[in-house]
Amino acid sequence: MNQGLIITIDGPSGVGKGTVAKSVAKELALAYLDTGAMYRAVALQVKRNPINIDNDTELLSLLNNTEIGIVNNQDNVLVITLNNEDITDKIRSPEISRISSDVATKRLVRKKLVELQREIGLNGNIVVEGRDMGTYVFPEATFKFYLDATLEERALRRRKQLMENNINIDLDNMTKEIELRDKQDKGRLESPLHPAPNAVIIDTTNLNADEVTNRIITEVKVSK
Ligand code: DC
Repeated sequence: MNQGLIITIDGPSGVGKGTVAKSVAKELALAYLDTGAMYRAVALQVKRNPINIDNDTELLSLLNNTEIGIVNNQDNVLVITLNNEDITDKIRSPEISRISSDVATKRLVRKKLVELQREIGLNGNIVVEGRDMGTYVFPEATFKFYLDATLEERALRRRKQLMENNINIDLDNMTKEIELRDKQDKGRLESPLHPAPNAVIIDTTNLNADEVTNRIITEVKVSK
């Protein structure tokens, strides 16, 4: 299916996949794809056009009017567009996190986004980050990693990230939100979150982003 190097990085909410995937891509001069951002784009579309997402006819009609773009700009920052509007700064709120986890349970949504992800990954030389990259979207990827950390640590990391974007949420609520996301992402019928059988699992609880990045790069270089 694919040519060229594909590195998949999967794991639960708040584990720091984004930071690590971006650094790995930079160090190895590869492209980077944040697939969570695509689910977030669909979530924003649903927020703006309230529909019953359990109704496939309504959902399909909305998806047919949803064009998602994802490109690296000149500064190597990933820009996400929804029907040609730059929505990069509009998809990181707790509300969008919640809706994206809901829309990600829907088969029609996954079908559309997986097609797009495979198209983008077709030529390889890319680091792809999400929940089902190694298990479903790119089962033949060259290297597969699964990052994990305790719920408490992930809540702290996600809260810090939100606070850097001037979004305040107390730690108790953050922990509950992440616990709920975990339940939904791991328990859904369509491509639930779990490590691929041949993924390298890294417990990042006591590691910083640089240490995790180095672990991945070392693994890739040793096995190349
Ligand atoms: O990684 P993230 O927090 O930006 O992802 C947002 C939501 O999208 C998350 O609840 C799970 C879902 N998701 C998914 O189901 N499959 C992916 N490949 C990426 C994200």
